[in-house]
Amino acid sequence: MLYKFRLPAFRAFYLLGFVLFASTHPVYSQQPTPYTSFKPGGEWLDTDGKHIDCHGGNIIYVDSLKTYYWYGEHRGVPRGASCYSSKDLYNWKNEGAVLEKGTIETFERPKVVYDATKDQYVMWFHFDGNRYTLAELGVAVSKSPTGPFVVQHHERPNGHESRDIGMYVDPETKKAYIGYAADHTNRTIRMVELSGDYLSTTTNDVDIEAHCEGPGILKKKGTYYLLTSGCSGWTPNPATYYTATNILGPYTKQGNPFVGDAGNNSFNSQPCYIFKIPGYRDAYLYMGDRWNGGGRPDSQYVFLPITITEDGKMELHWYKEWDLSMFTPEREKR
Ligand code: GAL
Repeated sequence: MLYKFRLPAFRAFYLLGFVLFASTHPVYSQQPTPYTSFKPGGEWLDTDGKHIDCHGGNIIYVDSLKTYYWYGEHRGVPRGASCYSSKDLYNWKNEGAVLEKGTIETFERPKVVYDATKDQYVMWFHFDGNRYTLAELGVAVSKSPTGPFVVQHHERPNGHESRDIGMYVDPETKKAYIGYAADHTNRTIRMVELSGDYLSTTTNDVDIEAHCEGPGILKKKGTYYLLTSGCSGWTPNPATYYTATNILGPYTKQGNPFVGDAGNNSFNSQPCYIFKIPGYRDAYLYMGDRWNGGGRPDSQYVFLPITITEDGKMELHWYKEWDLSMFTPEREKR
């Protein structure tokens, strides 16, 4: 009777072909097993099983939707801003291109904030020509976190060059600030306060004498910590952090917070943002890009916890793999 179950050779050949095709073709490929940890610098696929293409950006948490949104440069086609959504920071769904750069020659480092006064999402980004000489800030808005974002205008803030940007919204005052790599090809970082609706820059704009790119900001116990990279294009370099009691400065240079950094290159990454993870005490997430010398779509991410020590020092340590259990949930606060 067994012979009835035997496949003729040509059918077995087609079946094998289909299995091979299905396992490699995106439509049939398996979604990756859900992630339960971060693996800095490792392969990171979205829920469709594709490489996450979202560089130099930031993460926000939208409480009403109980969802995290990660924005960044979509360096594949179409070029512009991508958006991914997540419930747990590990597993990300591709929400598509939320801004296509069109005729903008260089579109880099988008940062999104939510403006409650106009109930809209505001994206600031580095707007430039192909030789980085325009050096402007661009701003776009969307009614939905998943776009589309529409460009409103672009400018040199108060006449200053502006390239890499970081953003910080004070959780109490809701005032927003942009730290931007500024004049003489990023010789210094300036900090500018935004208008109440986050749509324009104000004249509250100061040189904070920090050097020089990839600014990320956090605040703990009344102290602002500004983390920056050096200036070496797509090649990673040692980072520096600065502290101040006022976001507009003056800032004091503190040194390199990357501890045990064998390559002296920020664990082979460049900072793009510091995300305060809601719901956990002192949970600061370092977001860095591993550009691999080229700023390509397949560049990886280095996400690590940032420690502010008891005596107020910023430290980043390498973890091959880590998860949010490293932090204390807020509800356990006594
Ligand atoms: C880096 C900068 C990147 C990109 C690159 C171009 O220094 O941080 O965002 O502009 O230079 O070479």
